[in-house]
Amino acid sequence: MSAHSSSLDRKNGGWSGRFGEPVADFVLRYTASVGFDRRLALADIEASLAHAAMLAHVGILPAQDLADIERGLALIGGEIERGEFGWQLALEDVHLNIERRLIELVGDAGKRLHTGRSRNDQVATDVRLWLRGEIDAVGTALSALQHALVEQAAAHAATVMPGFTHLQVAQPVTFGHHLLAYVEMFERDRERMLDARRRVNRLPLGAAALAGTTFPIDREFVAARLGFEGLAENSLDAVSDRDFAIEFVAAAALVMTHVSRLAEELVLWMSPRFGFVRLPDRFTTGSSIMPQKKNPDVPELARGKSGRVSGHLVALLTLMKGQPLAYNKDNQEDKEPLFDTVDTVLDTLRALAEMVPGIEVDAEAMRRAAEEGFSTATDFADYLVGKGLPFRDAHEAVARAVRLAVERGCILAALPLAELQRLAPAVGADVFDHLTVAGSVAARDHVGGTSPRQVRTQVERWRERLAARAPMHRPQAIGE
Ligand code: ARG
Repeated sequence: MSAHSSSLDRKNGGWSGRFGEPVADFVLRYTASVGFDRRLALADIEASLAHAAMLAHVGILPAQDLADIERGLALIGGEIERGEFGWQLALEDVHLNIERRLIELVGDAGKRLHTGRSRNDQVATDVRLWLRGEIDAVGTALSALQHALVEQAAAHAATVMPGFTHLQVAQPVTFGHHLLAYVEMFERDRERMLDARRRVNRLPLGAAALAGTTFPIDREFVAARLGFEGLAENSLDAVSDRDFAIEFVAAAALVMTHVSRLAEELVLWMSPRFGFVRLPDRFTTGSSIMPQKKNPDVPELARGKSGRVSGHLVALLTLMKGQPLAYNKDNQEDKEPLFDTVDTVLDTLRALAEMVPGIEVDAEAMRRAAEEGFSTATDFADYLVGKGLPFRDAHEAVARAVRLAVERGCILAALPLAELQRLAPAVGADVFDHLTVAGSVAARDHVGGTSPRQVRTQVERWRERLAARAPMHRPQAIGE
């Protein structure tokens, strides 16, 4: 770090006209954020370009200065992208690093950039700009995972598996129907993301430190340049609240909660006790001691990482709750949880979207498991109701049939007709269509039901919806 170079560098005696001694090294390290907030650099440059253009537009900044600032910021953008930018801890954060470099490159014009602006409205603007782009990436990643699930559902519209309640075999369902349940969850997640985006997409710049500025700024001009949908209309609120980030992390925590449920099911289904699915070897690992093991590490990590994001949500809520208006340095602590949330969600969605098409189903094992536990007992009762029995009497007759089957060690469909008629005289030979697992799922043929026909209808509906998505949100083939 050079000794006298900065007008912004308090350690080096620059902007520190107000201070009698340089800041202590430890305090410098403790307060600096450039180690992580440099991730906002391109958003910072974009926002500075819009601010400078506005200053020129309203006549505060001469045209030549604007041209110099634009040239300087373009150079800096290039340096950052090529990894050549010399980040300095002594310059505290991304904003001061870029501003100082701009002054080095273009002189006085660079010193005029900060007119009518504070780092407080600057950082709020940068985070919103950056987050807006990441929300779009999360939306695309959600669509890609939905796409993978829909195609697996199409392949398994008629594959029967046990449906569970209390993790006990309850009634047969189709695997396609089960997968489409997650497509619905991820759709609500996507809606939440898009809804949060509307509130992220408001412009704080112009609030300056907290009270606005004496310069005749044009905030609408800046908002239009940056593609914001509106202005943050109260300067105190604009620089201080991070609810937009909290809202995003809350939506992300729900994404991860849904991911975690799916991951947990994959882990269970892969266990030899279930034996329903196999994952491609590239998503599993071995054990260092047990040669026979193939572990579902990717779903386990996806499940485990949901904890990080829920933790970040609590961290941000706690960060905000005690802060008096307006800006407080506490808010610098919003970035690492936010960045890690974005990274975790994007990586996890990508891992699942790549893994789902590779899931290999053992349809025979699923069917056998579906036949266990007398999963069609409800169908038998419904059949008797159709023959005129009150539901409670039907329930009782079927309970006796189940007991008989337990004694014989067979499934319901294997009981002789005569025995069934002894328990309920209304039974006809057609009862066996209702006692098979295939008959059971086929009979649940209404909107939201598990029948293969309904699954195929839903698959078509999802294919259309996913294909119609704006390019930004359209699923991309992974690896593209
Ligand atoms: N690095 C700071 C942050 O992340 C930027 C704003 C600093 N403002 C201030 N008055 N110290 O919040």
